[in-house]
Amino acid sequence: MVKIKIDGVEFEVDEKKNLIDAAKDVGVEIPYFCYHPALTVVGMCRMCLIEIEGVPRLQAACNTPVKEGMGIITKSDRVKEARAGTMEFLLANHPLDCPVCDKAGECKLQDNAFGSGTGQSRFEFEKRNVPQEEIGTNLIINHNRCIVCYRCVRFEEEKVGESNLGLFERGNHSLIGLAKDEPIQHNFQGALADICPVGALLNHKTLFKSRVWWYKSHKSVCHGCSTGCNVTTNVRDNKMYRYMVRENYEQGMFFLCDKGRFDIDWMNENRLFSFMDSGTTTTSVQVLESIASLVKRSKGIAIIGGAHETNESLSKIKSLLADLSKESNNVNTYFEVRVTDAQYKDTEQEDFLLTKDRHPNTRGALDLGLSLAGGLSEIESKIKEGKIDLVFSIKESIPDQWRASVKQVHLDTNQTPEVNRAQFSVPIKIFAEQVGSFTNKNGLKQDFEKSMEAPQGLPSSAEFFERLLQVMISKKEALIGNR
Ligand code: SF4
Ligand code: SF4
Ligand code: FES
Repeated sequence: MVKIKIDGVEFEVDEKKNLIDAAKDVGVEIPYFCYHPALTVVGMCRMCLIEIEGVPRLQAACNTPVKEGMGIITKSDRVKEARAGTMEFLLANHPLDCPVCDKAGECKLQDNAFGSGTGQSRFEFEKRNVPQEEIGTNLIINHNRCIVCYRCVRFEEEKVGESNLGLFERGNHSLIGLAKDEPIQHNFQGALADICPVGALLNHKTLFKSRVWWYKSHKSVCHGCSTGCNVTTNVRDNKMYRYMVRENYEQGMFFLCDKGRFDIDWMNENRLFSFMDSGTTTTSVQVLESIASLVKRSKGIAIIGGAHETNESLSKIKSLLADLSKESNNVNTYFEVRVTDAQYKDTEQEDFLLTKDRHPNTRGALDLGLSLAGGLSEIESKIKEGKIDLVFSIKESIPDQWRASVKQVHLDTNQTPEVNRAQFSVPIKIFAEQVGSFTNKNGLKQDFEKSMEAPQGLPSSAEFFERLLQVMISKKEALIGNR
């Protein structure tokens, strides 16, 4: 840490940061557009100009590392005039279309115009008008809104490793466009729209879905793979509308991939809300009674899957399983969370974020010991030997060759084909309807908040096993009472 003075007040700041981040840490906002903490600094927009004591010209804060004893001024008339001038240039050609722009409410141009602009324009000429273009499978560019900050180009080159975008023409004619003839296809078209500080880059999938101020936001973690990117969930009318990145400086998390970001419709559609008996809707009382009888008579019980469940649910299920076993003559129980090849291997990356393990909590389950030395094959052998005849599957299918030998109880959040294949199916909450945590591929346990309300009475996976145990205990008590 080093000591610097900001507007005459002394602060201790991290010497590894630049002036924008160091000032932000102590509550002083320096406006910016082109700077992004995870991308190279280019100093293109000139919005972050500040005075440094002893330096005659204004300096770009994004391009200036902090130094012991330095003094900076962020609120002088000179600084204010420079910022107002930058805003005037940026807005010269920018359309006044906030009312129809998807970025409105979270746009840096709006924020900085409000904080540093003059509130009026001297620009009397006709504004430049370039038609909107489709530049990706899920990406549109509105050239008129672009402020040429180069964030999109840098992100593609530095993070994605592709150079689909480039800056063409000069001066007033400058525009960001496709450097190749093909549309962008990669897994980060959502991130491109996200890092664009204005409404120039937009995704089809979220276009005109909702004004951003109508959302309720919660801290959460992406469910899409074992990376566990930090997200802010945007929920409206109890429906998941959007995942937005929640920047985590400590862990270096600044982006989301499209596979996770846009995989949210299943939380709103095709949900399983009923208990099922052989594919037919029935009551929870009947199903719980029948499952309790199966558990009581079983020779061995296996649970497979569960890497979508929270650490808290898994730990509860683990202890409930021991209690269920006690209620059924100490029948052996086996828990194997790994159902895909990727879960058996060390982390394999598909790109700089997405991993091949599309479960958010394999690591958490493994840390809880919910795996077997012989994996799924061990369960299969025990089924063949007749030592397991009851399988609980949590959001995973069981191999078809098991079906003749076991009864299956399937727990799911959605109406998947497995729901109709199992003897009994149980509806459960999704992770976003619970408070909990996932442990990512690096062993980082990350807590998340409840984003949505589950329908009344819908259990989590752990609550289902809890109810099952209660049914078994009350059955036993009824038998004792009858003697
Ligand atoms: S499209 Fe957006 S991110 Fe790209 S240069 Fe323009 S304003 Fe910046
Ligand atoms: S990399 Fe994984 S955790 Fe991150 S956004 Fe993509 S799917 Fe979600
Ligand atoms: S943020 Fe410093 S020049 Fe753009």
